[in-house]
Amino acid sequence: MNAIVQHAPELPLSKRLKSGTTNDHDSVDSLVMGSQPFQDLNRYGRFLLLQHRFHGAINALYQDPALNALLPGLSELPRFDAVCADLRDLGLDVPATPAAVHPASSYAALGWLYCSEGSNIGAAFLFKETQQIGLGADNGARHLAAHPDGRKLHWRQFVALLDGLELSGEQQAQAIQGARDAFDFYKAALKDVFAGV
Ligand code: HEM
Repeated sequence: MNAIVQHAPELPLSKRLKSGTTNDHDSVDSLVMGSQPFQDLNRYGRFLLLQHRFHGAINALYQDPALNALLPGLSELPRFDAVCADLRDLGLDVPATPAAVHPASSYAALGWLYCSEGSNIGAAFLFKETQQIGLGADNGARHLAAHPDGRKLHWRQFVALLDGLELSGEQQAQAIQGARDAFDFYKAALKDVFAGV
C-alpha cells in the first residue's frame, strides 16, 4: 500500500515574498533610519535622491505590457513623477532619469514591484516624520502620501493580484530572487547617496 503523503498547503506568493525577504527588509529599515533622513531638509533631500534612483530605475516596469497583463492597473501606480515633484518642491535639481533595471524575467520583475509597492506600507511612518520638518502631501512628501483608497486597502488589492497568479515553483523562486535584488539595489543606492554626508 502506498503511503499517504500529506503536503502542507502551498503558501501564497505574497507570503513567500515576505518570508523570503524579511531579513533584507529589516536591514534596509535600519539603514534608512540610521541615515537620519528626517533630521533636516538637507538630509531629506538626500533621501529623495535615493528614492529617485530606486523609483526611476523601476519606472518603466510599471508601463510594461506583459506586467500589466499580469497585474491589471499597474500602470497607474508608479511614484517616480511624485518623487521628481518632491525634489522640485525642495528647490533641488531633478537628476537625469536613472538607467532602467532589466529583471531576468517578468516573474523576477514581480519581485521588484512587490518591493516597491510594499514600501508604501512603511511609508505611513516616514510620511509622519516628514510633517515634523514642515512637509506634506502637497509639498515635498507627495510620493510618501497614502494612495487615495488608503494604504491598507491598496496593499490588499495588490497582494490579491499577486496571489491570484498561477505561478510554478520556479516562477515563484524567480519572483523572490527579484525582490531580493530590489532590496539589494536599494541598499547599494542608499549607501552611495548618503556616503560622506
Ligand atoms: C525606515 C524605513 C522603513 C520602515 C520603518 C518600514 C516599515 C514597514 C512596516 C511597519 C511594514 C509592515 C509590516 C507588516 O505589516 O508586517 C513594512 C512593509 C513592507 N516594507 Fe517597509 N519599511 C521601511 C522601508 C522600506 C523600504 C525602503 C522598502 C523597499 C525598498 C520597504 C519594503 C517593504 C515591503 C515590500 C513591505 C511589505 C511586507 C509584506 O509582504 O507584508 N520598506 N515596512
